[in-house]
Amino acid sequence: MQEKVVVRDVLWEDFGLLAKNFLSYYDEMKENPDLGILVGGKKPKMTEEIDWFSAFYKRLLEGDAVASVAEVGGKVVGMCDINRTVLREDVKHRGLLGIAILKEYRGRGIGTMLVTSCIKKAKGKFEIIMLSAFENNRPAMRLYEKCGFKEYGVGKKFIKRNEHYIDEHFYCLEI
Ligand SMILES: CC(C)(COP(=O)(O)OP(=O)(O)OC[C@H]1O[C@@H](n2cnc3c(N)ncnc32)[C@H](O)[C@@H]1OP(=O)(O)O)[C@@H](O)C(=O)NCCC(=O)NCCS
Repeated sequence: MQEKVVVRDVLWEDFGLLAKNFLSYYDEMKENPDLGILVGGKKPKMTEEIDWFSAFYKRLLEGDAVASVAEVGGKVVGMCDINRTVLREDVKHRGLLGIAILKEYRGRGIGTMLVTSCIKKAKGKFEIIMLSAFENNRPAMRLYEKCGFKEYGVGKKFIKRNEHYIDEHFYCLEI
């Protein structure tokens, strides 16, 4: 029997596990160079993770972000967040969604639970949710389409990783 999944708000105490999970995606990228998330060049230092989490937590408190984590057996295994990335008046109704789940917990509905939870929380705070997916990220595209996102364009060769190009598919959802 699969363990129960609990989807809940992000807590300040989640920092340690969230940072550990994020850093693990750098290791995963070594095995899978096409991993569909933008993690940047070098693995960040813990001090950079602290800065990121503090800024993110402040956005949550100020209503400029919403997020949910999934917990299995007391362990945080994934997170989805929607952030107001630009605070200018004419675009602040948009939020950018990001999601990642630890490899061993994928494909069992956790992504769907997290995106659904974040869309619910975003209502009243955002009007449009935007995101993008790499062309080869089938699970992500299926997840977004299933949650109602519509594809509105493709950035040909928008990603260049290890001298190899990947198209980026853009999606949005009006809520
Ligand atoms: C993308 C990601 C968040 C999806 O989360 P998940 O928990 O695996 O998704 P779910 O189990 O809820 O599945 C969502 C849908 O995708 C489908 N799916 C899952 N794995 C799949 C695969 N390998 N190929 C095709 N479809 C797949 C599921 O069947 C489901 O559709 P269905 O309900 O019609 O059957 C997860 O794979 C992940 O963290 N990947 C690495 C990071 C990443 O790519 N983030 C997204 C950046 S855009």
